[in-house]
Amino acid sequence: SSVSRFLPNPKSLAPRPGVDEGPIHLVKAGLPQQLADLGWDVEFNGHHQFEDISASITSDEPIGLLKNPRRVSQVCHAVAQTVSGHAKRGKLPLTLGGDHSLAMGTISGTLEQYPDACVVWVDAHADINTPETTDTGNIHGMPVAFLLGLGSPVPEFSWIKPVLKPNRIVYIGLRDVDAGEKRILKENGIKAFSMHEVDKYGIGQVVKMALDHVNPKGDLPIHLSFDVDALDPTVAPSTGTPVRGGLTFREGHYICEAIYETGCLVALDIMEVNPSLANEEAVKQTVAVGCSLARSALGETLL
Ligand code: ARG
Ligand code: MN
Ligand code: MN
Ligand code: MN
Repeated sequence: SSVSRFLPNPKSLAPRPGVDEGPIHLVKAGLPQQLADLGWDVEFNGHHQFEDISASITSDEPIGLLKNPRRVSQVCHAVAQTVSGHAKRGKLPLTLGGDHSLAMGTISGTLEQYPDACVVWVDAHADINTPETTDTGNIHGMPVAFLLGLGSPVPEFSWIKPVLKPNRIVYIGLRDVDAGEKRILKENGIKAFSMHEVDKYGIGQVVKMALDHVNPKGDLPIHLSFDVDALDPTVAPSTGTPVRGGLTFREGHYICEAIYETGCLVALDIMEVNPSLANEEAVKQTVAVGCSLARSALGETLL
């Protein structure tokens, strides 16, 4: 599935559900039509190809601490190939998740087509643990480390080319960063704007500083990876690892609007919508927010 825009700049979209139930909720809530209404020619892939891969893996013992390593690796590899395929055709891949480990796939796919792309990572978490520093073994806490080539190599993940450079990623919204991750961020000089900086400078200034850092001349393609847990749990309750003190509804949407305005967006992830974790009202609210973030990043304006 993919979409191309009628005006002004013909790109396309490929909404791409991941391994969870979350993505299909966004689709059922009408996201493809909403994007079509914004002028995108939406080509929807469905998620069965990825579910089939997942289902074909019947035994998946941990590797070291890493949980479900083969399933995660193989699904992400397939996602990488799908994303790069769409990007190659001039389409803008939109990936709906699902676990943020999927960003190993989406960002690998983007970098294959746009080697100089930069990443804006909006999240409560840094997701930069290595297999050595992880406390939980959850791979959704590690995708950035794999993309940067940090930590000792895991053969199962050797398809990931560690081509992301530390100065080509910037974080917004952090507030739950493990001790080992703080060390990694420092050692690699990775720029991060936590909720402290959002409070101090305001979201407008933070987005400007973040983009000035990662895209100083404004000429690099941007991959936006948005974990809905960056938003406050009162705004996006239905997610796996909520952390209080997050972005307001408007702050989250402002980030998306500002990145759309750069004209540099080439790929978008909306991640960690998880409908199994909350009551029906909370799910509805989170799905609606996921859809509206995607619309804002793809050109919806308030006026
Ligand atoms: N830092 C914790 C971990 O490594 C939490 C990561 C949460 N990431 C996410 N994508 N929900 O397990
Ligand atoms: Mn997850
Ligand atoms: Mn995340
Ligand atoms: Mn998170």
